[in-house]
Amino acid sequence: MLADSYGRLATDLRVSLTDRCNLRCTYCMPPEGLEWLPKPDLLTDDELLRLIGIGVTRLGITEVRFTGGEPLLRRGLPGLVAGTTALAPRPRTALTTNGIGLARMAPALAEAGLDRVNVSLDTLDPEVFETLARRRRLDDVLDGLAGAARAGLTPVKVNTVLMRDINDAEAAGLLRYCVERGYELRFIEQMPLDAQHGWRRDNMITAEEILGRLEAEFTLEPADGDTRGSAPAELFHVRGVRFPNGEPATVGVIGSVTRPFCGACDRVRLTADGQIRNCLFAREESDLRSLLRGGATDDEIAERWIAAVSAKLPGHGINDPSFLQPSRPMSAIGG
Ligand code: 5AD
Ligand code: SF4
Repeated sequence: MLADSYGRLATDLRVSLTDRCNLRCTYCMPPEGLEWLPKPDLLTDDELLRLIGIGVTRLGITEVRFTGGEPLLRRGLPGLVAGTTALAPRPRTALTTNGIGLARMAPALAEAGLDRVNVSLDTLDPEVFETLARRRRLDDVLDGLAGAARAGLTPVKVNTVLMRDINDAEAAGLLRYCVERGYELRFIEQMPLDAQHGWRRDNMITAEEILGRLEAEFTLEPADGDTRGSAPAELFHVRGVRFPNGEPATVGVIGSVTRPFCGACDRVRLTADGQIRNCLFAREESDLRSLLRGGATDDEIAERWIAAVSAKLPGHGINDPSFLQPSRPMSAIGG
């Protein structure tokens, strides 16, 4: 099992399939993009499946989420999903994507056994989309969402990052849009993970502010009870509003910075170049790629993975004066 010294178990594996992306969200990347990982450094599909297999069959991983960069840019994605869902015990599978190309890919992904998707959507205004993501692709994202729902990749979840004076007036509008279509919307506080190091605490839209903006138009009621578990989102019911299927509408707020949930974290991350990170904000990584390519056995790989997780720190420390942003940006770690 992947246990750390604070009693947490890592059962949720996030696999970054590429650090490349077809958008340039300002809270993530500079306009010119980044220096991408060199191709030979990336794990091949076979290498990825070997590591995922070790995680699932020996180390207690029960959920595998594919992320990026943009994971739909990876050609082998349906095969990776199929290989993952063929494992025993079968893990739950999910994809975090910006939605571009999802309309076309959703049926094949569902066929391969993908269970769910999370799609990033920060605005419903094409001009704001272009300001935020530096590309004119809003319609592709909205089509992707609809395609995922049609293909049964449900519940479709939507991730939104609010940026001050850019899209922060859209909280209620986004909620209305999502609720009408049965998408579960979650707002995420902006974290210091951008490649340009442009994050400023006083500029961040906090969970409290997000709730305030929603409550100007809706009445929210805590919906978690005792069920939150390791889920980072605080969940609310929207009073008097229902999803198309008749269930009470919900909205989530992920206060990564102001309401950290590190104590319940059950995640571990594998980067596209084969490094285990025990936290988004970890300052150290454990190199599984060189073990893999050096002919290590499954046992040896499992051992290094166990050691990597056991060294996990109690929290991200963003609120400590000594906090240092990790050297890898979000796009090279995976969401
Ligand atoms: N802070 C918060 N969320 C972020 N995401 C990307 N960068 C950041 C950041 N700095 C979001 C994306 C996507 C998910 C992977 O994380 O919008 O929904
Ligand atoms: Fe791409 Fe996601 Fe980064 Fe936006 S946040 S540039 S969609 S990797």
